[in-house]
Amino acid sequence: MDAEKRKNKSAEQTNRKLLGGLIVSSLLVLLLAVGCGTAISGVLWYAEQMDTLAADNESLNQALGEAAQREQVNKETIADLERQLNDLRGQAEDNAAAIAALEARIAGQAPVPVTYPQDAKLIALTFDDGPGATTSRLLDELKKRRIPATFFVLGTRAKAQPALLKRMVQEGHVVGSHSNAHKNLTKLAYKALDEDMQACAEAIEAATGQAPTLMRAPGGNYNETVTGYARLRGLRLIQWSVDTRDWESRNKEAILTTAFQKGQYGIRDGAIVLMHDIYDTTVDAAVEMMDRLLDEGYTMVTVPELLRVRAGGGTPGAVYRECLPAKP
Ligand code: NI
Repeated sequence: MDAEKRKNKSAEQTNRKLLGGLIVSSLLVLLLAVGCGTAISGVLWYAEQMDTLAADNESLNQALGEAAQREQVNKETIADLERQLNDLRGQAEDNAAAIAALEARIAGQAPVPVTYPQDAKLIALTFDDGPGATTSRLLDELKKRRIPATFFVLGTRAKAQPALLKRMVQEGHVVGSHSNAHKNLTKLAYKALDEDMQACAEAIEAATGQAPTLMRAPGGNYNETVTGYARLRGLRLIQWSVDTRDWESRNKEAILTTAFQKGQYGIRDGAIVLMHDIYDTTVDAAVEMMDRLLDEGYTMVTVPELLRVRAGGGTPGAVYRECLPAKP
């Protein structure tokens, strides 16, 4: 029994060992299987990730390609715009040159000088102290007859009625300075004289766009200070040979009688006639005077025109009372 027991015991031990080995082996196999499964699923996961990455990479490359294409288009657009800009700059330079050339032509385009027959009788009608209430009626009468005149305006009145000055210039008349406030210029210190005259010149330029080139001293009062001032400012000092004394008589017939008197104080070729466009009686007289002068074959001109034809344009600071024709 003992031997059999021992045999059985031994067999039992062997069986246990075998069972143990079997369990261990099974566990190992199981572990191996789990390991392999994990490994396979890991490989599959990586493969999937690789695909995703590849797809991402492709779309990135595509986006980069499109961006590069857009950049190229932008570069071409910029280059095209730069070309257009250069073309426009070139055109602008051409235009500026053309404008400058036209401006130079305009600046150099003096009105074609009128030539008068040798025996033409020229006379300049001048009107002082305006513009006034009767100035526009006088302008209407001058316009009807196409007669140009010269107005020596006061700065204070010019400032009040700039439209009338503008009209004068537009209708071919000339505007000269008669000072700002009609003071006796010989009684003013140089600084006060300059200020007074400049105020008038500025009013004339503001209204007409042209600075005056003529002046007439209030009351005809001038001295060396006044002529010195006129020379410095480029002004010809215009007096008169025919004093109608219209302001005194205020009478049409008296004005005409005085104007048409015989001799050096009456109307003759080269005379400068003094009147005032601020009296109705003066305008009435001027209308008759103009018609009579036309009948007698006179050509009425502005003072600068008379100076141009008879005195080489005149000299700033010089005094003119008339411009007689050259003796043959
Ligand atoms: Ni006056």
